[in-house]
Amino acid sequence: MYQLGLIGYPIQHSLSPWIHHRLLDNAGLEGNYRLFEISPEEDFAEKIQELKSKEIKGFNVTVPYKQKIIPYLDGLDSTAEEMHAVNTVIHKNGKWYGYNTDGIGYLRSLKHAYPDFFNDLKNKVLILGAGGAARALFYALSQKGFVNIDIANRTLKKAEDIAQLGNNNSNTNVFTIEKANECLHNYDLIIQTTSVGMKSFGLKPIVTIERLKKDVIVSDIVYQPIVTKFLQDAEEHGARLLFGHTMLLYQAQYAFEIWTNKRIDLKDMENELLAILEGR
Ligand code: ATR
Repeated sequence: MYQLGLIGYPIQHSLSPWIHHRLLDNAGLEGNYRLFEISPEEDFAEKIQELKSKEIKGFNVTVPYKQKIIPYLDGLDSTAEEMHAVNTVIHKNGKWYGYNTDGIGYLRSLKHAYPDFFNDLKNKVLILGAGGAARALFYALSQKGFVNIDIANRTLKKAEDIAQLGNNNSNTNVFTIEKANECLHNYDLIIQTTSVGMKSFGLKPIVTIERLKKDVIVSDIVYQPIVTKFLQDAEEHGARLLFGHTMLLYQAQYAFEIWTNKRIDLKDMENELLAILEGR
């Protein structure tokens, strides 16, 4: 019986229960996935103690607790260590271990949709944004061996910090969003990781697309809306698209694998999640 769940705030609208119940079903495993919302006014240490006293196999961690959870864990895997952020916790032999599944989840989603991209590690990548998600994606791509990954962000210092995570052969340029506007056509993969473009941000894209390279993949990790204005513009310029909800599914697939040792095929879940999001 897999007792799983999520901590964060607010999480009432989280899609994770739906995703993990479907994964449990597809795996033929008994279990459930519950929301353990912890509001900022509550005593975090006490709430974590309460959670740990339950018969729980593991839980996901979302905003605003991805860093705050770390002192309550017995160990971190190397990626969570580098990210200084945990989104998945497993209870094993009486101890609690933290992982971060965002980067690998993104790579899996990219590989599933566009396996050809992995044939050339010199492909040029541009990451727009330098928050937690950008950090995870940059790290995963460089660990995979990609050597040309640039980062554009409003705050340059944050992009410079991420660039330090590169591999030995990597070559990373850091610049402003304005500069990114002028050189979008140089890239084989462009990943939008900022909150700009979300419904709540007024839908305006972070950059204006004028020209793109042939066969470029344009990816947005925002999934509300599914087709952001940025992705719409990219499609009009002939890009191949990667939607944000796929990363959500694959990072969950990897978390589920950490808990159960089973990698579950996502089958029709991409389309089903799409339908749920479109109905929102
Ligand atoms: P996440 O963990 O989801 O990546 P985050 O750490 O809050 O979220 O990062 C948000 C990203 O969106 C950052 O790159 C942020 O830019 P700054 O580093 O300059 O803050 C970017 N962002 C948010 N609002 C923005 C805006 N109005 N214009 C440009 N960039 C914005």
